Parts: sequence; C-alpha cells; structure tokens
Amino acid sequence: MQPLSWEFVKPSPAPTAQQRKKFKRQLISWFRRHGRDLPWRRTRDPYRVLVAEFMLQQTQVSRVEGYWPRFLATFPSILHLARATPAHVRESWAGLGYYQRAANLHRLAREVVTNHGGELPPDAATLESLPGVGTYTAGAVASFAFELPEPAIDTNVARVLRRVFHPEIASGRAADRVLHGTARALVPRRGRNAWVTNQALMELGALVCTARVMRCGDCPVLSTCRTGQANPVRLTQPPR
Ligand code: ADE
Repeated sequence: MQPLSWEFVKPSPAPTAQQRKKFKRQLISWFRRHGRDLPWRRTRDPYRVLVAEFMLQQTQVSRVEGYWPRFLATFPSILHLARATPAHVRESWAGLGYYQRAANLHRLAREVVTNHGGELPPDAATLESLPGVGTYTAGAVASFAFELPEPAIDTNVARVLRRVFHPEIASGRAADRVLHGTARALVPRRGRNAWVTNQALMELGALVCTARVMRCGDCPVLSTCRTGQANPVRLTQPPR
C-alpha cells in the first residue's frame, strides 16, 4: 500500500535504460574534453576528498582551490587533524567562513580515529552517520573515493536531472525521491564509473546548465534533454 501523503507530485516517467545510456555517453565524453582539471579530481584518497567536499559545501571552487592544499599541508592525514587543537583547526579554516564545518570536520576526524581505526568507512550509510556529513557528502565521498555506485545530488545535479528528465516535478520530498531514483539508476554498478558520472553531472550544472542560464547551444545532452527539446535556450558561453 502507498504511504499516505499530502504532497502532490505529477507523475514523471523514469528514463529508460536506453535514454540513460545515451545521456551518459554524451555527458561523459563532454566531461573528458571540457571538465575542469580541479586539484581534488586528481586524488582518490578518502580524507583528501572529504576535506574538499566539506570546503565546497558553501564555498566557491576558486576559493577552495587555494585553501584545500594549504589545509592538507597543515593536516596531512586524518590522524594529524584528530590530534590538532580546535584553535589550530579554526585558524587553518580562517577566511573560508561557516566555521561549523571546521568544527564538524575536526569532530569527525576524532570519531574516525576512535571508532573506525583511523580509516573513513567505505559505505555511504556509515559516512552519513559522521558529524557534518549529509546525504550529498556521503554520496560524494563514497563515489569519488571508493567508486561505490552512490548518487551525489547537490543543487547543480538536482537541477540538471530535473531539466533533462523530470521537467514536470517541482520541489519537495517526493520530487527528491524521483531525482534520487534517477541519479541512482545512472550509477548502477560497483566499479562502473560512479566517479566520472557524478563529477560530470556536477560539472554540467556548474558550467552549462546553470541556475541563471541554460546554455543549450553548448550542451552535450541537448538531444536527450526534455527541457531543452521543448524550449531550447540557445545561448552559448560568452567569450572569455
Ligand atoms: N562542488 C562540490 N563538490 C565538487 C567537486 N568535486 N567538484 C567541483 N565542484 C564541486
């Protein structure tokens, strides 16, 4: 029986296996050519990935590019971070803002050292139980560091999936479940490109299918996109 819910969601069909395959082919080949060479994309080390994701939660990529290597030079491992004083952690975060993130990261490091033998747990559910780790960050670390088939749905990814596959759904918990189902179906199997799929989805939302403008003229998935097919916005990147 369906659970009782007052939330009204328009039905929105899940993409077929064929649609998903085509979308991924287009998306991933675009990402390989146009994705940014960001420093945290060159590592699969769980601690380094986690620090990047904490920093990126509320801060722009360009600022994190400077802070991330400095923080890691100060605290090269989760053990170094766990042993640091709160004042030292806060000082190393100074200027990034949202200091609760630094406090949570520090608590997390201590908890991982105390309860998990100093290793970040390689599964999304346990990651999500750690301080400061929400569903997005758990999915990001699981897929980026451990190649686990987990979705990583931040605002960019949610917007891309909604525009491409589910233009009729609004927002809310039921809509989130639809997007989650589609994001999960895009990374179906262990060891089968969860890293590149999730990074590429994020990148498309950051560079092409942005909150302010849809640059359909530059979009690799235009032929698959329900929003773009119905009403393409033929803007392209402004000259740099
Ligand atoms: N925002 C959050 N995580 C990110 C990542 N791994 N790369 C680029 N932007 C991001």
